[in-house]
Amino acid sequence: MVDINSAKNNLDAAGFLDLAVDPEIDLFAEIEKLKKEKNAIILAHYYQEPDIQDVADYIGDSLGLAQAAEKTEADIIVFAGVHFMAETAKILNPSKKVLLPDLKAGCSLSDSAPPALFKLFKDKHPDHLVITYINCSAGMKALSDIICTSSNAQKIIESLPADQPIIFAPDRNLGAYINKQTGRNMLLWNGACMVHEIFSLEKITKLKIRHTKAKVIAHPECEAPVLAIADYIGSTTGLLKFTQKDDATEYIVVTETGILHQMQKNNPAKTFIPAPPNNSCACNDCPHMKLNTLEKLYLCMKYELPEIIMDEALRLAAKKPIDRMLEISAKYGL
Ligand code: 13P
Ligand code: SF4
Repeated sequence: MVDINSAKNNLDAAGFLDLAVDPEIDLFAEIEKLKKEKNAIILAHYYQEPDIQDVADYIGDSLGLAQAAEKTEADIIVFAGVHFMAETAKILNPSKKVLLPDLKAGCSLSDSAPPALFKLFKDKHPDHLVITYINCSAGMKALSDIICTSSNAQKIIESLPADQPIIFAPDRNLGAYINKQTGRNMLLWNGACMVHEIFSLEKITKLKIRHTKAKVIAHPECEAPVLAIADYIGSTTGLLKFTQKDDATEYIVVTETGILHQMQKNNPAKTFIPAPPNNSCACNDCPHMKLNTLEKLYLCMKYELPEIIMDEALRLAAKKPIDRMLEISAKYGL
C-alpha cells in the first residue's frame, strides 16, 4: 500500500492518487458526504462508467458540461471526463479548484492536433477563421477564433458569412459532415477519434438486417459511410433526446457505450444495441474516459488531487474562443 505522501510524489508519473481504498466502505455514501463537506460538484460526461454517472450532479455532452462549469457556484469542480473537459472548466473558473480523477485521461482527437504543428498550418492560411472542436488542448484553443462542440458546430458555422474561409480542426469526420450539411468547403485538419473511427459498417449493416425495426443513431465523429446509413446523427445529448421523443423501440447506437446507461434508464421499455467495432476488442469503450473509476473519484475528492493548474496567459488566450462559443450558443438557445 502507498501512503498519501508518496502517492502525491508519484502523481506526475501515475496520473492519479495510487492509494488503496477499503473495499468495505460505501463509496456512494462517502462521495455524497465529501460533496457536502467541500461544496463540490461532480460533472460527468455520458461516456463515464454507470457508477460515476449515478453519483454525478450533472451529466451531459461537451457543450452542456462547459455551460454547467460556467454556471456553478460550487467551490470545487470534480470533472469526471477527460483532460480537455476539465481544462475547459478551469479556463472558465480560474478561482475554483478543478479536479480530474486521472490526469492521464486524454483524448485521441486532442492528441491529433499538436499546437506547434497546427500553428504552421494556420500561418499558411492567414485569411481563414479557425473553428476548433472543443476536443483539443488549451494550446489549440489559444490558436482558435471560435470553439464548437458537436451540439453547436453547424449553427456556429452557419452564423458566419457564406464566403468566409474557414479552417476546421481537429476532427476531419465532424468537419466533413458539417461541410456536407452546410455546403461549405472548410479546410479540414486530419484528426480523428479512435473510438468513433472503429465502427464497422459491415457489422452495423448485418445488425440492421437482423433487427429490421431498429434505427441507427450515430455521433458525427463517425466516418462518412457509417453516417450515410444513420437514421439520426447528433451529439451524445442529441442522441439521448432523440431516443426519448422518437417512437421506435429499438436502436443501434453508434457511439461510445457509456451513453447506453442513460438511454436505458430513460427508456426502460426500449432496446439499445451497441454498434460493434471492426475487430473483437471492446474498442467502442473510450480507453481515456474509462480511466476514471469510482475509487479514483473518491480519492480525488478526499485529497483534492490531481488538480488542473494552468498558466494564466494561456488560460486567457484559450478563454476568448470559448466565450464566443458560449455567446453564440446562448443566442441560438443551444
Ligand atoms: P459530445 O459530448 O459533444 O457528444 O462529444 C462526444 C465525445 O467524443 C466527447 O469526447
Ligand atoms: Fe476523445 Fe474519442 Fe474518447 Fe471522446 S471518445 S474522449 S473524442 S478519444
